[in-house]
Amino acid sequence: MNGSLLKALELFEGARRVLVLTGAGMSAESGVPTFRDAQTGLWARYDPRELATPEAYRRNPSRVFGWYASRLMAVRRVSPHVGYDALARLGEMYPGALTVVTQNVDGLHTRAGTRDVIELHGSLEAFRCSGCRDPYPAAGVVQLVEGGGEIAPQPPECSKCGNFIRPGVVWFGEMLPEGVMERAWQAAREADVALVIGTSSMVYPAAELPAIVVGRGGRVIEINPEATPLSPSADLYWQAAAGEALPGLVEALQRRARSRKDGT
Ligand code: APR
Repeated sequence: MNGSLLKALELFEGARRVLVLTGAGMSAESGVPTFRDAQTGLWARYDPRELATPEAYRRNPSRVFGWYASRLMAVRRVSPHVGYDALARLGEMYPGALTVVTQNVDGLHTRAGTRDVIELHGSLEAFRCSGCRDPYPAAGVVQLVEGGGEIAPQPPECSKCGNFIRPGVVWFGEMLPEGVMERAWQAAREADVALVIGTSSMVYPAAELPAIVVGRGGRVIEINPEATPLSPSADLYWQAAAGEALPGLVEALQRRARSRKDGT
C-alpha cells in the first residue's frame, strides 16, 4: 500500500462527517474542457472572462448564450470517470453525512450517483429568465441548438415576462446562489475530514472551506497532481490524479469497514 493511501486511511479513522470539495481538475479526466481549454474552435478568439460576465451577456446575449449552450452539449457527451463512482460509493458509506461541494457546473457528481451535492457556481443544466428568474428547461435549449444549427442562436424569451433566458451559472462578479454558501459552510463546520480534489485553491470563497474544517479540528486531504497554495498546510498532500487515487482509497475504506464489521 502506498504511503499516501496509508496516511489517508489514518486520517479517515473515526471520521463521522466528510466534506468533499472539487474543482475543474476533477472533471478533466472525464474530458470536460477546463475553463481555459474550452476556448477552442469557434470560441477560441474570446476570452472566457469576456463571456462569463453579466456585462458580456447584456452586450451580446446570443454569443454568451451560444457559448453556454455549446458547453452544455459537450458535457452531455462525456461520462463521469471512476473517481466519481468512487465518491458516490464513499457517500453510501456515510449516509446523510457526506457532502460534495463543487465549483464545477457540469453535473457529473449527480450523474455518478452522489446524493448531496452543492453546486457553488450553478449548473449548465439550469437555465432561467434573466428578468423574473423563472426556470427554463435545458431540453428547450438543446432543441433550439440542434434544430437551428446556429452557433449563436438568439436566447428564447421568458413566457412570463418576455426577458431573455440566461444560463444558470454564476458569472464573474455575481453573488453565489441563495442559500448555497450557508449550506457549504455548515457542511465544512461539521466535517471531520475534508477531501479537496482538483482545485487550484485560488478562487474564493470555495478556497476558504478547508480552513473552516481545520478551524474546527478536522483534517484535510488534498488530491492533485500539482501542488497548490493549500498543499503545505494540508494534513496530507497526495500527489495524484483523482481517477488514480480515489478508487483505491474508497476500496481500502470499504475493506476496513467490512473487516471491522466481521470482527465484531
Ligand atoms: N486530478 C486532480 N486534479 C487535477 C487533475 C486530475 N486529473 N488535473 C488537473 N488537476 C488540478 C490542477 O493541477 C489544478 O490545480 O486541478 C486544478 C484545476 O484548477 P482550475 O482550472 O483553476 O480550476 P478550479 O480550482 O476549479 O477553478 C475554480 O475558477 O475559473 C473559475 O469558475 C471557474 O469554477 C472555476 C473556478
